[in-house]
Amino acid sequence: MNWETYLDQHEGRFLSRLIELVSIPSVSTDPGHKADMQRACEWFTRWADGLGLHSEIWPTEGHPSLFIETPPVADKPVLLIYGHYDVQPAEDRELWTHQPFEPQVSDDKLYGRGASDNKGQIWLHCAALETLLASGKPLPIQVKLLIEGEEEVGSPNLPKLLTQHKEQLGADLVLVSDTSTAVKGVPTLHYSLRGIVIFEVHLQVAGRDVHSGVFGGTSPNAIHRMAQLVSRLHDENQRVVIDGFYDGVLPIDDREKELLARVPFDPEFYQGFIGCSELVGEVGFTTNERRWFRPTLDCNGIGGGFQGDGSKTIVPARAWAKFSARLVPDQTVEHVEDCCRRWFEAQTWAGKIDFRSDHGGPPYLLDPYGPLATYLEKAGQALRESFGQTPLLVRHGGAIPIVSQFQTLLGLSTVLMGFGSPDDAIHSPNEKFELANFRRGIRTSVRFLNALGSAAHQHFSIG
Ligand code: BES
Ligand code: MN
Repeated sequence: MNWETYLDQHEGRFLSRLIELVSIPSVSTDPGHKADMQRACEWFTRWADGLGLHSEIWPTEGHPSLFIETPPVADKPVLLIYGHYDVQPAEDRELWTHQPFEPQVSDDKLYGRGASDNKGQIWLHCAALETLLASGKPLPIQVKLLIEGEEEVGSPNLPKLLTQHKEQLGADLVLVSDTSTAVKGVPTLHYSLRGIVIFEVHLQVAGRDVHSGVFGGTSPNAIHRMAQLVSRLHDENQRVVIDGFYDGVLPIDDREKELLARVPFDPEFYQGFIGCSELVGEVGFTTNERRWFRPTLDCNGIGGGFQGDGSKTIVPARAWAKFSARLVPDQTVEHVEDCCRRWFEAQTWAGKIDFRSDHGGPPYLLDPYGPLATYLEKAGQALRESFGQTPLLVRHGGAIPIVSQFQTLLGLSTVLMGFGSPDDAIHSPNEKFELANFRRGIRTSVRFLNALGSAAHQHFSIG
C-alpha cells in the first residue's frame, strides 16, 4: 500500500496512541513519578516490540533512556532521532482548563502536558517509521531513536550514556524535533540553539528575622536588598551590566540578516500570546534578534521572609533568587557562570552572598551554508511538500543542551526540525499540540527518511 493511503487510514490510531502516551505523568523533576518514568519507557519499547524492532532501556542514576533501532541498510546514511519522554511539572492545576494528564482533543488540538514538548514531536517520527514499515518494503535508511527521560532537568546522565554507547549510536546525522516553528503555521528549520546557565543566589543580611515594629526601619531587609540586586543587573539600555557577560558573542552576519529578514513578525500575535502591553529588551536590537542572537539574563524566581497565609510582621534576614542566562555562540557556560559569580560575590554591600551554580549547556550553531547544507535542503524539501510552504531557516532561543554534546561526544551535527507552534504553551498551563502539525509532521518525517535513502551515501559527520 502507498504510504499516504496507509497514513490517511491510520492517523486516528496514531492520535489515540499519542493520547495514551500523554496521559502518563512522566514528570522528571518529581521523585514521586519514578514509576511513571518507567511506564513511559515501557510504552515505547512495547511499541517497538510490536513492530519487531530492537529496543533497549538504558538505566542511569536518574531516569532511564531508551534506544530503538531499525535494521542496517547498506550504503545509506544512518539517522539518529533524539527526543525526550519526560515533561515539565503541571502543579498549577487551577490554571488548566483541561487536566494536564487527561489529554483531550478540542478544535483540532491535543491538550495535555507534554503534548508538544516533546511527546507529540517524538511520537510523530515513530508513526512515520510504522507507516514505512507497513508498506512491506525495506526501510530507506537505518533509523536509531534515542529517547531520554531527563531533558527537562538538564540531561545530567545522558553524556555518560553517549560515551558508553558511542558505537551503537553511530550515525551520520542527528534529527531533533523539540522546537517550535518561528511563525505559527510556517514550517521551520533551526540551525542554532541558545545555551543556558542556571544558578541561585542566597543572601543573608542578619543573624535572625526580627520584629518589624521593634526593629523595622533600622535592621537590614534581605528582600529589599535582593530586589536591589536584581534591579541592578540591567542598565538603562537593558544591557546586562556584568563584566565579561557579552564576551564571545558573535555579531549577526549579513547572510543571517537576510535569513532573519524573511521571518515575518507580528507584534500583536506575539504580545497577545504573552498578554503584555509592551515589549522590552536590549536597545538596538529587534525582538527576533533579542531572542535568537543575543544573550539574556532573567530572574526566574525570588523568595524569602514570610510566605504563609495571613501575616507575620518581620524584617527578613534571608532571601534567595533563581536565575537563568541564555547564551549564544560563542559564549561558554564556564565563562558566563564565572562572570555572574564574580559579579554577585562582589556585591558585598548587600550582605553575605552564597552563589550556587546549577546545570548549564553550551549554545549550538550549525553553519547553514556549510557541508551539512544538503541535509538541510532535504529536510526543507520534505517540509515544503508536507506543509505546502517554504520553510524558514532561523536560529532558536530555547536550549537543548545535549545537542552540542552530540557534536563534541559523538561528532554528529543536528538538524532541528520543530513541529511545535509558538503558542503551544510548553512549560505553561494548557499546553497543546496542533494536530495539523502532527499530521504534517508524520508526512515530513516519512519524506525526509525517503529522501535520505534516495541519495548516494556521503559522510558528512565531523569531529
Ligand atoms: N523543547 C524545549 C526547548 C524549547 C524551548 C522549544 C523553547 C521551544 C521553545 C526543551 O524541552 C526545553 O525546555 N529546554 C530547556 C532546557 C533547560 C531545562 C536546560 C529550556 O530551554 O529551558
Ligand atoms: Mn523539550
